[in-house]
Amino acid sequence: MAATRLIMLGPPGAGKGTQAQKLCKDAGLAHMSTGDMLRAAVAAKTPVGLQAKGYMEGGKLVPDEVVIGVLVEAIDKAVAAGAKGFVLDGFPRTLPQADALKKALSDRKLPIEQVILINTPDKVVQERLGQRRSCSDPKCGAVYNLASKPPKKDGVCDVCGKPVVLRNDDKPETVLVRQQTYWRDTAPLIDYYKKAGLLVEVPGSGSMDEIAGLVKDAVNKGGKKSGGCCCGGH
Ligand code: AP5
Repeated sequence: MAATRLIMLGPPGAGKGTQAQKLCKDAGLAHMSTGDMLRAAVAAKTPVGLQAKGYMEGGKLVPDEVVIGVLVEAIDKAVAAGAKGFVLDGFPRTLPQADALKKALSDRKLPIEQVILINTPDKVVQERLGQRRSCSDPKCGAVYNLASKPPKKDGVCDVCGKPVVLRNDDKPETVLVRQQTYWRDTAPLIDYYKKAGLLVEVPGSGSMDEIAGLVKDAVNKGGKKSGGCCCGGH
C-alpha cells in the first residue's frame, strides 16, 4: 500500500518543495512546509515570526522549541480537517526535532511510513537557488526557476499576479551558510532514518518530471527499507 505519511529530506534547494507539492496534489495529501509556515509568520509579524526572522535571514536554523510547536500544531489541524496523510517538507532538520516528531506521531498513532531523501549535489543546488524566484505573497508561495520553470510573464506570478522575487536567503553567501548548516545539523538524519528502515534515496539532479516519477514509484511501493548509500554530492 502506498505510504501516506512521509518526510521529504534533502539539502536546501534539492527540490523538496517541488516534489512534495506534486506528490500531495496527485495523492491528495497535505503538504506541510515549515519554511512556508515560518515565512508566513515572519510576514504576519506574529511572535513566532519575530523570533524566526533573524535566523532565517542568516541561513541558520530556527530554534527547535519554536519549530516543533509550529509543526505539531499544523499536523493536528490537518488531521482534524480530515487529511488522509501528509508530506513533511523541511522538517525535521535536527536529531532533537526527529525525536520530538517520533514521540508526537507515536502518541497520535500516526507514525512516519517513509522518508524520501532527494540527493542533489551542492553545486546543482547553488545553481538552482540562484535561479529560483518565489512569489512575494507568502499566502501564494508559488515557486519558479528562471532556467527550468520561468513565470509566463517576466517577474509576475502566474497564480496571483504579484511580483516574483529572489528569496532573502537565496543570496549566494546565505546559500553557503544553509548548506553548511544542512551538512552539520540535518545530514545525521540520513543515518537515523536508514537505521529505522524508512529511508529511500532518489537522485535529485534529473528533470522535475524524472524525479517525480522516481518519487511516485518509491511511494507506491509503500516505503520501508532501502539500503543504498547516501553520502551526498557534497
Ligand atoms: P525552507 O524553505 O524549508 O528552505 P530549504 O530546506 O533550504 O529548502 P528550499 O525551499 O530552499 O528548497 P527545496 O528543497 O524545497 O527546493 P525547491 O523545490 O524550491 O526553509 C527556509 C528557512 O526556514 C531555513 O533556512 C530555516 O531558517 C527555517 N526553517 C525551516 N524549517 C526549519 C526547521 N525544521 N528547523 C529550523 N529552521 C527551519 O527547488 C529549488 C529551485 O530549483 C526552484 O527554483 C525549483 O523550481 C527548481 N527545481 C526543483 N527541482 C528541479 C529539477 N529537478 N530541475 C531543475 N530545477 C528544479
